[in-house]
Amino acid sequence: MSSMLLNRLAHNRTTLLRSTASRAAVRSMAVLNYSSSSNSISPKYKAIFDQLDLQFENKGVFNGTWGGSGPIVDAVSPADGSVIGRVQTGTVQELNDTLKKMEDIKVMWRETPAPKRGEIVRQMRDALNDKLEPLGALVSLEMGKILPEGKGEVQEYIDICDFALGLSRTLNGKVVPSERPGHFMLEQWNPIGTVGVISAFNFPVAVYGWNSAIALVCGNPVVWKGAPTTNLSSIAVTKILEKVLVKNGLPGALCSLVAGGADVGQAMVEDDRVKLLSFTGSTPVGRKIGESVAKRFGKSLLELGGNNAIVVMDDADLDLALRSVLFAAVGTAGQRCTTTRRLLLHEKIHDEFIEKLIKAYQSIRIGDPLEAGTLCGPLHTKAAVEHYKKGLEAVKAQGGKILTGGKVLDDRPGNYVVPTVTSISPDAEVVQNEIFVPILHTMKIRDLDHAIEVNNSVKQGLSSSLFTRNPAHLFKWVGPSGSDCGIANVNLPSSGAEIGCAFGGEKETGGGRESGSDAWKQYMRRSTCVINYSGELPLAQGIKFE
Ligand code: UN1
Repeated sequence: MSSMLLNRLAHNRTTLLRSTASRAAVRSMAVLNYSSSSNSISPKYKAIFDQLDLQFENKGVFNGTWGGSGPIVDAVSPADGSVIGRVQTGTVQELNDTLKKMEDIKVMWRETPAPKRGEIVRQMRDALNDKLEPLGALVSLEMGKILPEGKGEVQEYIDICDFALGLSRTLNGKVVPSERPGHFMLEQWNPIGTVGVISAFNFPVAVYGWNSAIALVCGNPVVWKGAPTTNLSSIAVTKILEKVLVKNGLPGALCSLVAGGADVGQAMVEDDRVKLLSFTGSTPVGRKIGESVAKRFGKSLLELGGNNAIVVMDDADLDLALRSVLFAAVGTAGQRCTTTRRLLLHEKIHDEFIEKLIKAYQSIRIGDPLEAGTLCGPLHTKAAVEHYKKGLEAVKAQGGKILTGGKVLDDRPGNYVVPTVTSISPDAEVVQNEIFVPILHTMKIRDLDHAIEVNNSVKQGLSSSLFTRNPAHLFKWVGPSGSDCGIANVNLPSSGAEIGCAFGGEKETGGGRESGSDAWKQYMRRSTCVINYSGELPLAQGIKFE
């Protein structure tokens, strides 16, 4: 019997005697896919595991050395329900130990010149690039998205490293004219301190990448807790980064990992040493996290639910729109925050478009995400299949119709469902909430004003896209009375954003901005500095104090 298995049994026996924290850990274990009969890596996946230095049983805590004494969690393939590996996660105590180590190294890192920090991120970029294929395949295997999307996600991390490298030489503040003679006024950006990242299952690599590459060049150590169902991806990424740190004689705790359940997440949220907490996940959880971080005057960066619409006007290129809707609504099996969930069709092209859409949906190849040609893989978990079923019931109960799809593929192992198109009123309750599955609600709109009204009528505000050839429409859409979302596209899908601009949304999406543009400012603290070289003391606003 392996030592990890022995540990697990010992853990089981002693839990009843332990503290509340342990009971919480056991509770979180119960909801995870705990315990299985498999004990070795499937020959099918051996090459992927070998190239990423993964074993069947892995430790989920890294802070310079690898550890983990918390609950053991199975990694399950969404494609067939098999256990592909196992991870011993961390405890709150191990998070504390990790944060302590990060306190010890943060001064060294913030004093390292930014371009030198950039050079480390450049090396990380190259190391990720070397592992693009196996890491993309692991994402596909563990998360369930199709292989091109798995690799695309690793590419997204590589791209943000490029961006961060450039940034490491341009983290510039401003020089502002002073109203006082002999005074020099400027803005200096300094590292904020330890950054905590809690990421979601649907982008188990890229979202960490956005945060960590930028946080690192900004001079901050990063501690990561990925989703409990994608621990292998977190470990594989951290192993790649570890090698770069070791090669450069840098402490591993710069890129710490504490895989764990809700107890570890909660402790990270409440810990004052975590100066910025970046969370990607659902709106209800994000609301609680935002409140907890605000209570201790920490900073949070929230990327929460979306309810994204595509609008197709009667003057649009319908072929372009159709291909975009397919990618945005079916890609990642409807499990991107940016997935199109509402399709607003101009009444003049409505019927024609629906007819084409149904045909296209019926030709989508559903299957093994690692197989070439598959367009729609499985849902990530069995729980998501239940959400899909409940969503369909709600559509019917609320006066909607299923135009195509609406079926769970339970003739095979894995979490497969058929991508679904409905016809429903924009006001129906089921349309207001984000269900993280491939259900696309279609509705008719009269004109652009009506489309904008419907687009903006939901509580979420992440992404949106308008299809038109009319410049007046497109400028209105991106202007002050247009789409109220963080992303307002024209003639392209709502999903699949590049890294160069800031990513995030308004309203219940949380207001955070990650990735490109000036999102880096959130990972730094701003110092306003006035330097008096005049030898006199002229006060601002002309005040005399003598
Ligand atoms: C997410 O779904 O959490 O724009 C992030 C996109 C990707 C990122 C999605 N670049 O769809």
